[in-house]
This record gives sequence, structure tokens and C-alpha cells, in this order.
Amino acid sequence: MGTWDPGILGRVRIDPNRPSPARVYDAFLGGTHNFAVDRSVASRIVELVPEMGALARANRAFLRRVVRWAVARGVRQFIDLGSGIPAEGNVHEVALAADPAVRVAYVDVDPTAVLYARHLLTDEPHTVVVQGDLRDARSVLNDPDLLTLIDLGRPVGILMFAVLHFIPDGPVLDALLRDYREAVAPGSVMAVSHASGGLHPDAMARVADLYSRTGTPFVPRDQARLAALFDGWELVEPGVVHGADWHPEPADEPLDVAAASLMLAGVGLRP
Ligand SMILES: C[S@@+](CC[C@H](N)C(=O)[O-])C[C@H]1O[C@@H](n2cnc3c(N)ncnc32)[C@H](O)[C@@H]1O
Repeated sequence: MGTWDPGILGRVRIDPNRPSPARVYDAFLGGTHNFAVDRSVASRIVELVPEMGALARANRAFLRRVVRWAVARGVRQFIDLGSGIPAEGNVHEVALAADPAVRVAYVDVDPTAVLYARHLLTDEPHTVVVQGDLRDARSVLNDPDLLTLIDLGRPVGILMFAVLHFIPDGPVLDALLRDYREAVAPGSVMAVSHASGGLHPDAMARVADLYSRTGTPFVPRDQARLAALFDGWELVEPGVVHGADWHPEPADEPLDVAAASLMLAGVGLRP
């Protein structure tokens, strides 16, 4: 991806002294859309969990496999919630390579992510970028820009990659899951990747503590808890598994067992 463009940055208020999950994740992926404060948090997390970069890449590989899988089973539109700063293999690139009629709505709460996505996608008519909080599903799904591309009367892919672990258990999480599920047509899919304590529960607890000190809750969940988020969806085989084990492909970067255990993933089908 490109580097910081001061002309673009000047258009929104971004606090370079406050770390953001979007920019920290960009740093894990080796991107350049992050500040020193983000790199500092990222490097402290990598000290605790050295596999974090490989894990972020495995998450992007899961994204690519799920999108191809969904297009192959007829899903032609996607809402990517917590889409992040654009990185290699964005949803629309993967989906459009499989079917040129696909449409993608990117949604993120972070102004940096939204700004760069809009900048990169200016000339891409099959995409729209919405600044929104996925916790407010009704506002997201009624966004006029999103509705220019997405027809909720037809199957849609609701994508939540590496984002639900920033939302604690409670009524807000329950309501958002219910609202997205109830809003989408039968044949829709919900794909989730999610941090887990895996084989390093103590290290992940310290990562959670680090995030919370930067103002971001971080809630790794286990397999049973993640499976429960799919209430009302039919879990697609092989169910909730380590992300690297969800329909793996020979081209995937190998991941050792301990690293793989830190990310869980699953896909649900709306009956
Ligand atoms: C770890 S990044 C993941 C990016 C991308 N989904 C991926 O998996 O490669 C998490 C993203 O979720 C966004 N995010 C966190 N909370 C959010 C919320 N409540 N609503 C929308 N986006 C949110 C962050 O701004 C960040 O861009």
C-alpha cells in the first residue's frame, strides 16, 4: 500500500498521540498507515505474542478464502464491518476477481481507515465506504450510501474479521448480532474471525490489559463462546475452528500450532 499522504490526512481530525486498533493492526501487517504511538503498542504486543504478524496475515488469508467461498455459493454483495485500513487482498479485490458483478460496502468507525479506503476506492464503482459504528446495526444498514449498492432483500455476506473481540459481552453485543441477523435475507452468510487465548492465555490476557490501557476493550473468546455468537445461523462445516483450519488452501503461509490457536473463525448461513 502507499505511504501517508499529508494532503489526505489534513482533511480529518486524527489524534497522532492516541493509538487506534486500525493503525496498530496496520503495523502488524507491515503497513505504513500508522504513527509512532501505534507502532509502540504493536511492538509491545509482539513482545507478548511474537506470532502477531503471522496471525494478522493468517486472518487476511481466512478473509480471502471466505470471500471466494461465499461468491462461489452465490453471494454477490458484502458488508465488511470493521474493514480497517486497506491492505493487500481487500474484499472487493478478491470478490471482483471471482465475479465482476460483486458489490462491497466497507464500514469502519476509525477516520483513518475510512479516509484511506475512500481515497483508494474513488474510481471503484462497485464499492462504497461508510464511516459507522458496527454496534449500531440499524444506522449502518440504513446508511443511504450503503443502500445505493447493497440490496438487503438479497443474500449478503456480513463480514466481521478481527473486530468482535473489541466488543465486550453484554446487551450491545447481543443486540448487534440480532439486528444484523434479522435484517439479512435467507442465504446470507456471517463470517467471523476472532482472537482467542489459545495456547497462550496469559500472554493474551496481558495483550487485553495493554489494549484496555489505550482505551480499547479487548476480549479474547474461546470456541464455545464464539460458537454462541452464531445463534440463529447454521454453522457451516467445519464449524468454529482455528482460522487457519477453515477450508485451508495449499498456498496458505504455514502457521505453527501455538500461533494458529490464537485465532478462531467460523461462518454461519442464514436459514
Ligand atoms: C484488527 S482491525 C481488522 C481489519 C480487517 N477487518 C481485517 O480483518 O483485516 C479491526 C478494525 O475494526 C474497527 N472497529 C473497531 N471497533 C469498531 C466498531 N465498533 N465499528 C466499526 N469498526 C470498528 C477498527 O477501527 C479496525 O479498523
